Amino acid sequence: MKKSHLFALTAAGLLMSGAAMAADQCSTEITGNDAMQYDKASMTVPASCKNFTVTLKHIGKAAKAAMGHDWVLTTAADEQAVVTEAMAAGPSKDYLNPADPKIIAHTKLIGGGETTSVTFPVSKLKAGEQYSYFCTFPGHAGVMKGTLTVK
Ligand code: CO
Repeated sequence: MKKSHLFALTAAGLLMSGAAMAADQCSTEITGNDAMQYDKASMTVPASCKNFTVTLKHIGKAAKAAMGHDWVLTTAADEQAVVTEAMAAGPSKDYLNPADPKIIAHTKLIGGGETTSVTFPVSKLKAGEQYSYFCTFPGHAGVMKGTLTVK
């Protein structure tokens, strides 16, 4: 390969990684599996982002009815109430009351092999506040949970 070609490829690679980094700051990915686990116990949202996107990938094979996962964001203080109300909403509503004002953002409930995402304005969050994210499928929030902070 000619030296000039190598330089052009390297420059393109640097530009691409720069763009990817910028995009990554305002988005993140989290997986859920058939063992009822998220792969992340915490997330940080940069205060400089206008919007933040969370992509949830169910990397398992189990059906939604057996091992459904969603990603729901509330203040830490509201977590328990939302989990309880989600249980009451039942399977016909995918274990969530989307009209609940305590819910800051949420994805839909998905099964194995599916991916979903949610984008929300960072202006909904306050620096210094403690936020929690969790899965509202019955029994999951005890282990499928994490903390989210704005910095
Ligand atoms: Co789940």
